[in-house]
Amino acid sequence: MTGIDAAYRNYIDGAWVPGGAGHIDVTDPGSGAHLTRVALADAADVDRAVEAAARVHASRALAALRPVERGRMVRAVGAWIAAHRNTWAPVLTREQGKPLWEAEIEIDGAARYFEYYGNQAETVEGRSIPLGDGYIDYTTCEPYGVTAHIIPWNYPVEMAARSVAAALATGNTVVIKSPELTPVAITMIAHAAQAAGFPPGAVNLLCGLGPVAGAALAGHPKVNQIVFTGSVATGIAIATAAAQNVVPCVLELGGKSAAIVHDDADLDAFETDIRWGIFFNAGQVCSAMSRIVVHESRHDEVVERATAIARALSVGPGIERRESGPNMGAMVSQAQRDRAAGMVARAVAAGAKLATGGHALNLPGAFMEPTVLTGVTPDMEIAQQEVFGPVLSVIPFRTEDEAIAIANGTDYGLVGGVFTRDLDRAMRATRAMRAGQVFVNEWFAGGVETPFGGIGKSGYGREKGREALWNYVQTRNTAIKLR
Ligand code: NAI
Ligand code: MG
Repeated sequence: MTGIDAAYRNYIDGAWVPGGAGHIDVTDPGSGAHLTRVALADAADVDRAVEAAARVHASRALAALRPVERGRMVRAVGAWIAAHRNTWAPVLTREQGKPLWEAEIEIDGAARYFEYYGNQAETVEGRSIPLGDGYIDYTTCEPYGVTAHIIPWNYPVEMAARSVAAALATGNTVVIKSPELTPVAITMIAHAAQAAGFPPGAVNLLCGLGPVAGAALAGHPKVNQIVFTGSVATGIAIATAAAQNVVPCVLELGGKSAAIVHDDADLDAFETDIRWGIFFNAGQVCSAMSRIVVHESRHDEVVERATAIARALSVGPGIERRESGPNMGAMVSQAQRDRAAGMVARAVAAGAKLATGGHALNLPGAFMEPTVLTGVTPDMEIAQQEVFGPVLSVIPFRTEDEAIAIANGTDYGLVGGVFTRDLDRAMRATRAMRAGQVFVNEWFAGGVETPFGGIGKSGYGREKGREALWNYVQTRNTAIKLR
């Protein structure tokens, strides 16, 4: 077994501290067994973390640095994470359920965010505005101050890295609220910040219950900006708290994203999209390809291929799955697994058919069969609500307009895909799809460099890419009268 400590602490104002609310037990969803315990923050802990971050911001210890220096520190966080990947990937697997090779991908992805935003630190520039000879006028990009990062359990290390890297690169200070289901591996970010030389209080990390520590952080009067990834209901609560304090937030709230597969699509290539689009991280991905909207002439063929891919996946403890391959780990918890299985059962009761899967696996832990549903109509719960599990719905269409209407026919609008060899048809879809990013002929095409975020109930604001830098700075205009 890999080294997992019996207990973990929170990181507040440069010290590793116990929690005012005691501790929370962390379960290994790959076995159902107790894994470790983590300090649980109360509102007073949140207050100390925010005060520390506010003190560092007021000192201008980060904001005053030449951006290249700040960028080097941010990159050093990434280098530390990359160097410690093999120690922490098994920890992430044991607390989250994903295969070890997927945990390695996540930690590499986290390191990459710090590399990317470290490199971007020097590119944030203002402009000069001509007002005639009597004036000099220029803008500067000022950090907001204390940024709050409320993190989900599906990619805890990578999601924290995504927003923290951009916030630090632009000179903000940080308080991270880690997810109560997966609060362990994310602590590597605090260790990395410490090792990279960020002063005490610049980066704080605490685990706490959403309605307690999460709500205290979102509503704290000294928090200046909030980033949240998670459910719509919690997003609304956070945006409401932010509005009370008149601070901006970025909300990334998941989706019910559709791939439109036309009659001329390359289905051999599309098999890769099915495999990754819905079964990566056991489908617990906000931008999962949870619906395939396929031309009726190719429907049966797509169902056959999806069924074969699902059945070829070996499902079991992530820690035994070291090599990238046709395998899948546990879901994050039995509650999330039961929620997904319940949605499938209701879909079947409503008339959908199981092409394969659909049930909890008879194993200790939180395992769910890779599932493919047919006979799904666009108005069913399974076609409208996020399952957040390895569950694919296949829906046939006849006309292009109908395909777009089905794809756009949910409250969400995170990502969308179109699969065709016809460029005109692809371009029509890219314009018509209600989604923050559209994939043509490859699901998940893009990277750290490409902006990501939603339309509608999928949220607002953009993470990733250079767009995300503007979440963390406010323009100050300085106008000088010359004599
Ligand atoms: P959640 O949205 O409640 O939890 C996400 C984070 O928000 C956690 O850190 C949690 O502690 C925190 N939180 C919860 N209530 C809060 C509050 N009142 N104030 C401040 N922070 C709060 O998600 P949950 O309940 O774990 O999962 C439910 C569903 O949400 C999932 O089945 C999935 O559909 C969706 N979800 C989507 C994610 C995405 O990547 N878009 C990630 C996680 C969940
Ligand atoms: Mg919740």
